[in-house]
Amino acid sequence: MNPPRSRILGTGRFLPEQVRTNDQLARMVDTSDAWITERTGIKERRIAGDGTVTSDMAAAAGRAALEMAGVPASKLSMIIVGTVTPDVPMPATAVFVQQKLGAGAIPSFDVSAACAGFLYGLSIADQFIRSGQAEYVLVVGVELLSRVLDWSDRATCVLFGDGAGAVLLGPTRGDGDRPSGVLSTRLYSDGALADALVIPGGGTREPLDAEGLANKRNKVHMSGQEIFKVAVKNLTSATTDAMVAGGLDGADVDWVVAHQANLRILTQVASRLSVPLERFVLNIDRYGNTSSASIPIALDEAVRDGRVREGHNLIMCALGAGISWGGAAVRF
Ligand code: ACO
Repeated sequence: MNPPRSRILGTGRFLPEQVRTNDQLARMVDTSDAWITERTGIKERRIAGDGTVTSDMAAAAGRAALEMAGVPASKLSMIIVGTVTPDVPMPATAVFVQQKLGAGAIPSFDVSAACAGFLYGLSIADQFIRSGQAEYVLVVGVELLSRVLDWSDRATCVLFGDGAGAVLLGPTRGDGDRPSGVLSTRLYSDGALADALVIPGGGTREPLDAEGLANKRNKVHMSGQEIFKVAVKNLTSATTDAMVAGGLDGADVDWVVAHQANLRILTQVASRLSVPLERFVLNIDRYGNTSSASIPIALDEAVRDGRVREGHNLIMCALGAGISWGGAAVRF
């Protein structure tokens, strides 16, 4: 009998109801629908209500993934939450998710890899399932970025949105010559660009004081062009690495479920990979950049509307603050 591999058994998402359009933003900062659409592909994004916290959205997405799989929360062996917008600095948002889902006393922890957080979580879950140390693992990507944006900075506030996505991974023996499941994951990071996208205040380097608050050091600061260039290059190489490791070439790929940061980034990645943009699952126009949530949200939409079907070969890739990035090949 083959050793276990991990397989996606269910997907889920949660998007807050409140929509903020480009035209609404143009009334808040010096920008326009035309500029945002042309430079990013974003038309609108979702904003969480005042009473909502990160773990509420994560638990809702997780619950939907468990329901799709028909697996009760009591059977979970682990919860991994990719987020850079936790409920509180300590403890992990995952423990609040564990509590809200009513899961048992299982390991629950956060992964801080920004936009690549979901892929990091997927890879960790895959290793635990392959080694036989975990059975059902819930992997959530969730961000409540609207709370850490400077809403007077047009260079950042137009890009991001709130939301959560989740997958339930479970074991499969994968007997046969075309087994389903996670075929490969590849993770990378390079701290040389750590300050290109950063929340500089609020940690040990720069504990928050009145001056820090006044200077919005607790908000997202970004050098967009630096990130743009490296994103195209690294997303292409990570995707290629994951495809080779998963035994796939461009013609085998049914869907690319990439992190939704900027439509221009994805267009350039598609042309370098020779995979047409029509095979990318795209929703950046409706949700903007939801960081670690973007891949599982896009996946859940494509699964529920029937685009992604059993046996399809998927490629996932993401890059974000750190910089941290990665790729994965998955047979659904
Ligand atoms: N509305 C109108 N004008 C704007 C806005 C705005 N919202 N933001 C910036 N501008 C202006 C700038 O001030 C600049 O004006 P200037 O020429 O008078 O100086 C001009 O537009 C061009 O600015 P650039 O920064 O050169 O614009 P660029 O084409 O690089 O687009 C963007 C900016 C969209 C941020 C792009 O660099 C980008 O997407 N980078 C990737 C960043 C990203 O996605 N980060 C998220 C996390 S990482 C990830 O997920 C991959």
